[in-house]
Amino acid sequence: MEKIIIKGGRRLGGEVSVSGMKNAALPILFATILTGDKCVIDNVPPVSDVTIALDILRAIGAEVTWRTRTRVAVNTAGVRPCLSPYQLDNQMRASAYLLGAELGRFSRARVGWPGGCNFGTRPLDLHIKGFETMGAAVSTDSGYIVAEAPNGLHAASVYLDIPSVGATVNLILAAVTTPGTTVITNAAREPHIADLADFLNKCGADIRGAGEDEIVIRGVERLHGCSHTVIPDMIEAGTYMAAVAAAGGSVTLRNVVADHMDSVSAKLREMGAEVTADAEAGTMTVSRTAPLCATHVKTYFYPGFPTDMQPQFAPLMCCAEGISTISEGVWSNRFRYVDELCKMGAHVSVDGSTATFIGPVTLQGAPVVAFDLRAGAAMVIAGLCAGGQTEITNVEVIDRGFYNLVGKLKKLGADIKRVEE
Ligand code: UD1
Repeated sequence: MEKIIIKGGRRLGGEVSVSGMKNAALPILFATILTGDKCVIDNVPPVSDVTIALDILRAIGAEVTWRTRTRVAVNTAGVRPCLSPYQLDNQMRASAYLLGAELGRFSRARVGWPGGCNFGTRPLDLHIKGFETMGAAVSTDSGYIVAEAPNGLHAASVYLDIPSVGATVNLILAAVTTPGTTVITNAAREPHIADLADFLNKCGADIRGAGEDEIVIRGVERLHGCSHTVIPDMIEAGTYMAAVAAAGGSVTLRNVVADHMDSVSAKLREMGAEVTADAEAGTMTVSRTAPLCATHVKTYFYPGFPTDMQPQFAPLMCCAEGISTISEGVWSNRFRYVDELCKMGAHVSVDGSTATFIGPVTLQGAPVVAFDLRAGAAMVIAGLCAGGQTEITNVEVIDRGFYNLVGKLKKLGADIKRVEE
């Protein structure tokens, strides 16, 4: 077990390179199953969720080779369905993508009930309903979800009650080699959906409209391998942007798509930070010299403000002058980290899906816990702007989605280190 120790109060400066997006890399890695061929995926973040995904692929017969720290070759010719062990599947949410990928290639699939960060109920009903609409029978067996379509899947029109990222990914995976035209309505519009479709189209798929709310998939007979570069991680980028706004200073982010950052940039500007972008160069600069002012954030599906960025904004709201609120519009229980901020002196209360922050407060360093991936990043940001020393435990959850967070912040001038507990 390790912990992160931060001595707060230092401004940040310099440049930071943003890694590839975890939530794009994961569906793309599972999508390689559909090709039965060799794919080379670049800009893959070497985070622990990716390691688990690659272990799952190996467990079902794929050959996986890291070519560089961020480029991985996956050959899925030898993959067989229904072999992934519960203990691996249950460590992450994205293992659910095995269902769509195995169903698409083999017409049968099995996955141990997916785990992942705990922010309330994380149902799979929309995934299951979609598979059923396409002709699969779905059941549970000793903790596994089993899906079978003995006569093959058929194309269908699927309406999603909620624009779920996971359900949209799974239905795309199931539909790309299913004969006929499948239409997903009220689909998720996140940039990682468009990136998955780009990858699959390079493999020979015919997917149109990814990134919009209606996706049309014309089933093709077979796919082939390809090379693909994963898009930059907008949540990692937003996390560094929030860190600069909290600690003060000026930082340039490299390898970032400014368009993906619109909602985060708008809120940072409202709070008094300066945000500029050079879209062609793929860079953004965030500076904050004046005191922060209060704002209101409501998380929503893309292009709304991302729920995966709300914990990182909480420390900013503690320090901002006035009353700020965060209304969580996606998950039922994403405020567990608030108690930790209170230990640091924050004035926060939670009522249902809304947290209210009364500021400004000068946070004080304290021992705190990283409850989940993004809440862990929030604790780091709180530590950067707090007076004194913050010690964060359970930091392994941060490794699920941030590559070298401590090293990158250290390079920006933070007094931060990771030590054995
Ligand atoms: C993905 C992200 C997660 C992010 C979330 C929302 C990955 C690996 N994880 O999670 O970090 O917080 O998108 O941007 O990419 N829902 C249902 N039934 C379903 C599926 C979802 O009711 O079958 C609901 C959920 O309870 C939630 C909402 O839909 O309220 C969004 O969930 P979804 O977009 O599916 O999130 P994930 O794909 O699990």
